[in-house]
Amino acid sequence: MSTQATSRGQWSSRFGFILAAAGSAIGLGNIWRFPYTAGENGGGAFVLLYLAFVVLIGIPVQLSELSMGRRTQRNAVGAFRELAPGSGWSVVGGLGVASGFGILSFYAVIAGWTLGYIYFAVAGRFSAAMSPDASGAIFTGLVGGVVGPIVLLAAFMVLTALVVQGGVQGGIERASKILMPIFFLLLVALAVRSLTLPGAGEGLKFLFHVDFSKLLNAEVAGSALGQALFSLSLGMGAMITYGSYLKKDENMPMAAVAVASSDTLIALLAGLILFPAIFSAGLEPAVGPGLVFVVMPQVLAAMPAGWIFAVLFYLLLAIAALTSTISLLEVIVAYFVDERGWSRPSAVWTVTLVCFLLGVPSALSFGGNGFFTNMLGGLGFLGLVDMIFGKYGLTIGALGICLFVGYRWGIKNALEEIGGGGHRLPAGAFWGFLVRFLCPVAVFCILVLVVMGRANF
Ligand code: TRP
Repeated sequence: MSTQATSRGQWSSRFGFILAAAGSAIGLGNIWRFPYTAGENGGGAFVLLYLAFVVLIGIPVQLSELSMGRRTQRNAVGAFRELAPGSGWSVVGGLGVASGFGILSFYAVIAGWTLGYIYFAVAGRFSAAMSPDASGAIFTGLVGGVVGPIVLLAAFMVLTALVVQGGVQGGIERASKILMPIFFLLLVALAVRSLTLPGAGEGLKFLFHVDFSKLLNAEVAGSALGQALFSLSLGMGAMITYGSYLKKDENMPMAAVAVASSDTLIALLAGLILFPAIFSAGLEPAVGPGLVFVVMPQVLAAMPAGWIFAVLFYLLLAIAALTSTISLLEVIVAYFVDERGWSRPSAVWTVTLVCFLLGVPSALSFGGNGFFTNMLGGLGFLGLVDMIFGKYGLTIGALGICLFVGYRWGIKNALEEIGGGGHRLPAGAFWGFLVRFLCPVAVFCILVLVVMGRANF
């Protein structure tokens, strides 16, 4: 085991793993998607459901993935192959690798915009007297271009590749140890700034006021669950892959809880940055994906020393996105290295090139190209890729993982791995119940909502 483990790379410590896994989990999903999805789904009710789903479904699925990874010391496909040789189950891992390609290709487009926005902020493009129309024009000017979005996509892919090329400890763990503390400092600074603005209380009310009629709404519930899975990086074997670099005696239950709670805390903190600031500026919270790119520049520009906070805010977004694209790329690279015997550098650069090429039509689907923008009744190419991989891919993947651990590999085996090193999972039987019954049923329900076109996450 040890030779295999060292040649594949391993986290140097539990803390290193937690930072890398939290880096994967914390991303655009927390700062860009969580606030606007909460905004569209009525605030507090969504937040409450989200918290329940993280505990009852997110953590159980996360532990399922991590235990498969650590047991087999294999990538998403290899883990299934090893635990159920000769069966068809490795298709679930294959779907995960495919989802990684798809998600990375469009995630890096949006991540690229954050680089553009850092530049705008530094160049002083956001001015205090900026109207909503002017802010909207800056956004469409950037994302509706041709060269700009493609160059930014390429830049983000190269940044990601440079880190992943460095390997598990020298690349991913090292980058996470530098980036995550910076991220956290920026986050706290921005939250303090936002919460001390006049009228910030309105934003807090919006985020935490629970409209009970929305608690029982299937669409709100489906969106909250879908968002919880995406935010914790579940359903495509990212945690199988990261778990495979975890030492055998490391405390897995504790690490999982640390990752899930920091992810949740940071989504809430992002809400605490955005909503008070938005309400304080008298703007609308339920504006969809434009929240951080159209509304926030106006908010930031109106603050004293606003341009500095604007630079910090978009830097925060870029760092969050980078530690996530790293994990998406690592899932695919680990597959090619383990299963196909490629060297890490050739896997990294080949996959990067393919993802970039697949990302180009997504980069052009905000006006850069009429066909990619308007296809499928306005869904657009990026919307299509998100639908196939981000929604179908991840939910089918999560369902497959629950069924595999619950009924094929078995709860007993999984619990034995989770409890390795004497760190037994408290309430293991309850965990088994969740993985066998609640998680698959709940994930199946989101799948139905996705098929019906009613899952808004
Ligand atoms: N969790 C990240 C976010 O919130 C996105 C992400 C990274 C992801 N790796 C993943 C989502 C793997 C699903 C699967 O932005």
